[in-house]
Amino acid sequence: MSNTKEWEEIPTNEPDRQRYFINEDRKLLKLKEADLGRKLTFHVTTFGCQMNARDSEKLRGILEEIGYIPSESEDCDLVIYNTCTVRENADNRVYGRLGILHGYKKKNPGMKIAVCGCMIQEEHVVNRICESYRFVDLLFGTHNVYQLAELLHESFMKEGMTIHVLDKAEKIVEDLPQVRTYPFKAGVNIMYGCNNFCSYCIVPYVRGRERSRTPQAILREIEKQVEDGVVEVMLLGQNVNSYGKGLENPISFAELLLEIDKIPGLERIRFMTSHPKDLSQELIDAIAKSKHVCHHIHLPLQSGSSRLLKDMNRHYDKGAYLDLVRRIREAIPDVALTTDIIVGYPGETDEDFEETMDVVKQVGFDSAFTFEYSRRSGTPAATRPDQVAQEVVTERFNRLLKQVQEDGRNRAKALEGQTRTVLVEEVNREDDSLVSGRMENNSVVHFKGTSDLIGKIVPVHLTSCKGFYYLGEIAN
Ligand code: 5AD
Ligand code: SF4
Repeated sequence: MSNTKEWEEIPTNEPDRQRYFINEDRKLLKLKEADLGRKLTFHVTTFGCQMNARDSEKLRGILEEIGYIPSESEDCDLVIYNTCTVRENADNRVYGRLGILHGYKKKNPGMKIAVCGCMIQEEHVVNRICESYRFVDLLFGTHNVYQLAELLHESFMKEGMTIHVLDKAEKIVEDLPQVRTYPFKAGVNIMYGCNNFCSYCIVPYVRGRERSRTPQAILREIEKQVEDGVVEVMLLGQNVNSYGKGLENPISFAELLLEIDKIPGLERIRFMTSHPKDLSQELIDAIAKSKHVCHHIHLPLQSGSSRLLKDMNRHYDKGAYLDLVRRIREAIPDVALTTDIIVGYPGETDEDFEETMDVVKQVGFDSAFTFEYSRRSGTPAATRPDQVAQEVVTERFNRLLKQVQEDGRNRAKALEGQTRTVLVEEVNREDDSLVSGRMENNSVVHFKGTSDLIGKIVPVHLTSCKGFYYLGEIAN
């Protein structure tokens, strides 16, 4: 998307304004390259979820367009930390690693350090970085990602820290450069933000209210990706099941899926995350009748206790979740179900936890992300007096983990001997006579093959299950 257009004055409309600053930054970078006698390098480090991974692709795209060269190492000329704040240990990792970057900057004083993403939407984080991490050059929030070129320009032109944090998204800006991590699969934002305010969760505060992209914009983006060689897309949103509600011409997520399903050349469609309260029968039927939607649903349970689910503001209870799972399996018998579970939510009793264990045993998830409850300031649950003691949380967490691992192994074992389609992703990192890829249910399979298979979907006989991955043989 090279653009050499010159503007007489700074455009006020987007994305032209950012294109203008990409041009300006490119000129500045050329001067720096001449000074240093080499190209300038960058590294973007992503913490957290697939939304952040997608934002990082946008950041990388803008930087490459400006003329920065990607670097494997953080010891380079520009590092961006794209942060997550969903649990406290994510925050702590960032602070720890900023210290290491400071060491690199002492050797390379022209280095720029930027921190962006969810943490920066929180005032106490910005204050802490301003006070204790003065070597950071640029802070920007989740709604400012598209402005990277403009913010970088400001940081080049003035002394001190550049800070830009929009409280809420002003607009959805499309059509800026972006790079894809893989040539054959792509993440596609279908909506941004979340309106659910689950009582433990910081996401609605840092990602703002739900905003859906238009189906036309989404379809156009995917069609372009398919022309470029993409065969698998992951549709991204905090709560994809409520897609389309605020649009001028409302459309359901099921309708969107069926439109995407018709795109010629697109082989696989994934989506995440689904909220159980909004997963409609219409959607279940759409997945069942579609040709390309993967039979995999990530359906966060959070807790099996109806009492806690009510307190969490989840709008479903144990019975409704189990009934949903029953209806999904009835319509899509080979579906893989994965989930998120929180242990130690304030006030969780032994009985509440047993309800969670009971749902886990009844459902038999293919895999589950299990989290210890993390107190996030600003959320309703953080102020609760009845926080659960750490040793109780640890004991419950270990029991739950054992159960979900056992279920995962059993579910995986049941596929041994079957033939499944696999999207080949890479040559195996440890044994280059093998390639590695993913089945529709997202499980990894290794089998004999060469690099020309990368990006192709091939049938593979699953010869043996090794717990959470398989060894296989290409089936002809
Ligand atoms: N503590 C622990 N886990 C959390 N999650 C969200 N907020 C918290 C929190 N405060 C988990 C939920 C969600 C996943 C992305 O992160 O399980 O589904
Ligand atoms: Fe957080 Fe709940 Fe929104 Fe998921 S649905 S992002 S858990 S508030």
